[in-house]
Amino acid sequence: MSKSINISNSVIRRLPRYYRFLGELEDQQISKISSRELSERMHLTASQIRQDLNCFGGFGQQGYGYNVSELRKEIGRILGVDKLRKTILIGAGNLGTALAVHINFEKSGCSLIGIFDSNKKIVGNPLGKLTITDIDDLEKFCRENKPEVAVLCIPKSVTKEIVDRLTELGVRSFWNFSHYDINVEHKNIIVENVHLGDSLLTLSYGVNNNLDNDK
Ligand code: NAI
Repeated sequence: MSKSINISNSVIRRLPRYYRFLGELEDQQISKISSRELSERMHLTASQIRQDLNCFGGFGQQGYGYNVSELRKEIGRILGVDKLRKTILIGAGNLGTALAVHINFEKSGCSLIGIFDSNKKIVGNPLGKLTITDIDDLEKFCRENKPEVAVLCIPKSVTKEIVDRLTELGVRSFWNFSHYDINVEHKNIIVENVHLGDSLLTLSYGVNNNLDNDK
């Protein structure tokens, strides 16, 4: 998809939200929507929406609006949700368990195929549809199954060692919840860092400055 190469990071950051909203419209059997209606629902300006969606071909027709299914399909293609990438989760503690149970990986283009932990007391336990595997078996599992993505829910202190092992095994993409900064030592890999605390700080800023999202 050559057009996606030129899409700015800020537009890409908004795409999951468009994708989710369009999915909700599909669920409500809404087949077309104007940029004005979409903007009201998403609390964005209509011109922002037109600009964003024009980045990858528009899909809007003057006087018609957007075809919800086509647009959602195209955004899904750009986001890569039409391919299922083999994914493993490292660290089956509180956070890892919550993600394994509550995140619909397949909806986001990932297929969770393995969960690993170093704690022998929980190795062998079921978690969601999988069984927790000993981290000592990581190499064997990865050679046999070739995962592309790893979700990191381990303490910062062990993350470098795990990332070293995983990159050796060909894993190039990380959904990183640990507070270790992977990109400092590892180049040419894709990292999405998640810091729930940062989100809370953003809320704190809003509260502190009496900001209203709708303004
Ligand atoms: P936890 O202690 O419940 O779970 C950590 C798990 O990692 C344990 O099951 C432990 O046995 C396992 N582990 C430790 N070393 C390992 C290794 N070398 N290989 C495989 N597994 C290993 O901790 P929790 O609450 O689940 O948090 C996990 C990490 O996520 C922590 O680093 C925490 O700071 C971070 N965190 C990040 C958040 C964020 O928004 N980014 C939110 C909450 C936690």
